[in-house]
Amino acid sequence: MATDSKPFKQGAEAKLYTCTFYERPCIVKERFSKSYRHPVLDRSLTSQRIKSEIRAMLRCRMVGIATPTVFFVDMEKGSIYMEYFPDSVTFRDLIIQQQRENPSKANQVLEPLARKYGKIVGKMHSANIIHGDLTTSNVLIRGDPSDLDLILIDFGLSSFDSLSEDKGVDLYVLERAFLSSHPNTEELFEKILTAYKDENKKGATDIMNKLEEVRMRGRKRTMVG
Ligand SMILES: Nc1ncnc2c1ncn2[C@@H]1O[C@H](COP(=O)(O)OP(=O)(O)OP(=O)(O)O)[C@@H](O)[C@H]1O
Ligand SMILES: [Mg+2]
Repeated sequence: MATDSKPFKQGAEAKLYTCTFYERPCIVKERFSKSYRHPVLDRSLTSQRIKSEIRAMLRCRMVGIATPTVFFVDMEKGSIYMEYFPDSVTFRDLIIQQQRENPSKANQVLEPLARKYGKIVGKMHSANIIHGDLTTSNVLIRGDPSDLDLILIDFGLSSFDSLSEDKGVDLYVLERAFLSSHPNTEELFEKILTAYKDENKKGATDIMNKLEEVRMRGRKRTMVG
């Protein structure tokens, strides 16, 4: 299977190439080694991330959360072959585009997506899946503008845990990433949290308390630092 020779994207830990896998559009996510890490540790980390990524994608699909289908895994090369969504944009790019083209209406236009995102994260946490890197670059959006689909990606730092603490930290990562990447989106972030609480009613109170605790720790650290 030949991949395009030029990476389609290069992240912090991986290069992504496009190709076709039995005629289906495919992305090859190849984690590269880091020269500052001991080779044995490096291989072990790569293998852990690949396992976490495919496990979480499968678990998400089992509870009805859209993630790319995994076609093939090459542990030797550290690469995952998965479904490619060529007609998608990241949530990040969509927010930036709306804020640029439609500043006064951006939050209003993006609100349905924020609700959907909150609902998906709530569902994911109800299934005890912790994403580990909930940024707006790790959500793909596609479909009809009146009914857009969200696809979660990039599960290399994910884990499987029922603790409210881990879910609170996951939400804190999302909050920090969201508000620091996208100015004036506090209102939008609130919509995410409201939809999250609606979807994950059973655990919501505990998880919100943990989120508040983590925020306080974060503030103290900033004051000391
Ligand atoms: N299945 C896919 N279909 C379409 N685009 C994708 C897909 N998977 C990844 N991408 C694009 O590639 C980017 C990087 O992918 P991913 O987040 O999995 O890798 P990463 O190494 O964590 O990168 P980063 O450090 O930028 O987050 C995504 O933000 C998205 O734009
Ligand atoms: Mg990513």
